[in-house]
Parts: sequence; structure tokens; C-alpha cells
Amino acid sequence: MGWDGHWQYLLTTLSHATPAECCQAVFLLSAAGVLAVAVLPHDAKTLLVDYGARKARKPSADGRPQEVPNRGWLLSLIDTVTCWSQVPHSWFSSFYVVSLACSVFWLVQYLCDGAVLRCVADSQAAASQRSATLGQVALGWFMMFLQSARREFEHWTIIKPSKSTMWVVHWLLGFLFYFTINLSVWVEGSHDAQSLLKMAAATPVFLFAWINQYWCHKHLAELKKYSLPTAGMFRHYICPHYTCECLLYLSIAIATAPRGVWLNRTMVCALLFVATNLGVTAAGTRKWYGETFGIGSVANKWNMIPFIF
Ligand SMILES: NC(=O)c1ccc[n+]([C@@H]2O[C@H](COP(=O)([O-])OP(=O)(O)OC[C@H]3O[C@@H](n4cnc5c(N)ncnc54)[C@H](OP(=O)(O)O)[C@@H]3O)[C@@H](O)[C@H]2O)c1
Repeated sequence: MGWDGHWQYLLTTLSHATPAECCQAVFLLSAAGVLAVAVLPHDAKTLLVDYGARKARKPSADGRPQEVPNRGWLLSLIDTVTCWSQVPHSWFSSFYVVSLACSVFWLVQYLCDGAVLRCVADSQAAASQRSATLGQVALGWFMMFLQSARREFEHWTIIKPSKSTMWVVHWLLGFLFYFTINLSVWVEGSHDAQSLLKMAAATPVFLFAWINQYWCHKHLAELKKYSLPTAGMFRHYICPHYTCECLLYLSIAIATAPRGVWLNRTMVCALLFVATNLGVTAAGTRKWYGETFGIGSVANKWNMIPFIF
């Protein structure tokens, strides 16, 4: 098959994709993009991936900022482009405003029998795949709403002003994620099925992660910038707030699992993206803490997922 044939095949496949498959593709392609950056040589990866504390340079022994080593033209180009396109780390707050706006949009669509949700539901139903109950969709929606509302609340109440920045691509990826995840909650639901067990299993996991992530963020906000977090879950994990993030999406995947399966496939793709994205950042955090506070400070701690990573 030539290039034309490949493109034609791709376009035909895309035009027949269900909304759930489109959401899955967004998550998996984003995860693949993050993985591709993660395997780049160390200096390039650092420029593209690091933000916040991980980007803070250690002063040299005489107290002056360390010299940047001589770089090839490609690294210098990446450095220039990423330096030039930084946005404040505090702009994370805009993700949760967008996420809350999406939550409200889809709820209004549901309550008013809106054309957009009907179009999504019709094209998903045409694929006649197994679906979740309305109660499950409502719970998944409420979990996403609660998570975004708590994160926005944190930005207004506990998170301290900071000069730290991130590459604009992180910010754009975040937007794409929150747009897609809020649609994902709805795409696999419409018919009735037995679902109470899944909802009962998912709710305590969600609440555990939701509450503990708040405590992690509170602890980080109380620290002098930048020091070693050691309280609560930070005794055993480098980034327990990321552990909680993964648990949150795992619980939503269980809560909204369609008939006959224990996990919602679209949410599992979202979880894969979250775990990949945060896994790369958690590895950078371990490296930075190790270099800044000594190897002993990170020994015997999991980056993010116990017994795995
Ligand atoms: N769903 C997703 O794909 C996704 C992606 C990214 C993040 N998130 C979630 O968003 C939340 C925040 O993530 P993040 O990557 O921004 O976390 P982070 O880099 O650990 O930063 C969180 C906050 O803590 C501060 N901080 C971090 N380390 C510190 C230290 N050693 N000493 C003092 N202050 C410190 C940061 O200050 P500065 O602002 O000065 O850096 C920032 O205000 C997490 O719960 C994460 O799970 C989700």
C-alpha cells in the first residue's frame, strides 16, 4: 500500500470511529508522545519535561548559579524554543476552570436533551457496544466535578504564589486532557445494567485519593521553596499526590465500567496517559531530590506506584 492508500485507510478508520474510540486515541497518542520525549537524551528531555522544583538549578559551591554546559546546535535550539514559550506553573488553575465548565456543559446537555450529547450518544449507540448505567455515568460525572472543584479551591486557598514555569506544551496537553476526560465520562453510558457493586467499590477508593491528595498539596504548600517533603504519604513516596491522581482515575474507570467488565476502557486509556505523564515527572522529581538533598533522602521510597515504580 502506498502513502495515498495509508492516508485513505487512516481517514476511513477515523470517520468510522466511535466517540469512545476517539477519546481513547487522544489519550493513547498523548501517552505515546510523552513516552517519546521521555526516551530522548537526558539534556533534551530535561529541557522539554522539567517544570517547577525540578527545574530549579542548584547553586555551585561558591553560591553562584551553575554554568550551563556547552551545547550542540539542536540542544541550543530546543533551549531557545522552550525558554521562549514558558508559562507560569500556576496556570494549572485554568485546567480546573475548563474542566468545571465542561462538566456543567455536559450536565446541561443531558438535562435539556441537548443536540451535542444526543449526537455523541447516537454515534456511540450505533456501534452497539456494552454500556454503563445512568447511575454510573452520574457518579463518574460527580467524581470529575468534585476533583476539579477541589483542585480549583486549592489554587485559591492553599497554593502559594510562585515564579516557577512550565513549557506551554504541558499547558496545552492539560487542556486537551480535561476536554477529553469530561467527554469520556459520558461516552460509554446509556442502557441499564447491574452496577451497584462497581460504584460501591469505586467510591471509597475515590474518597481516599481525593482526601489524601488534598493533604499532599497542603503539605507541599506549607514547605519553604524548595525543600524535602516528609510528612504523611511523603514518608513512603516521592510523589504521593501523583499516586492519588492515578487512584482517582482508576476509581472513575471502575465506577463507570460498562456491563460485563470491571473497567471502563476509555478511562483506562486516560489512566495510562496520566500514569505515563506523571511517571516521567515523578522520575525527574526523584532525580532532583537525590541530587539536591542526597541519595539517602529518596532511598526506600516509591516514585509513585508501590511495588512497581
Ligand atoms: N491529570 C494529569 O494529567 C495531571 C498532570 C499533571 C499534574 N496533575 C496533578 O496536578 C497536581 C499538581 O501537579 P504538579 O506536577 O504541578 O505538582 P508539583 O510539581 O509537585 O507542584 C505542586 C505544588 O507544590 C509546590 N512544590 C512542589 N515541590 C515542592 C517542594 N519540594 N518544596 C516546596 N514546594 C513544592 C509547587 O510549587 P511551584 O509552583 O513553585 O513549582 C506547586 O505549587 C498533582 O496532584 C498532579 O497529580 C495531573
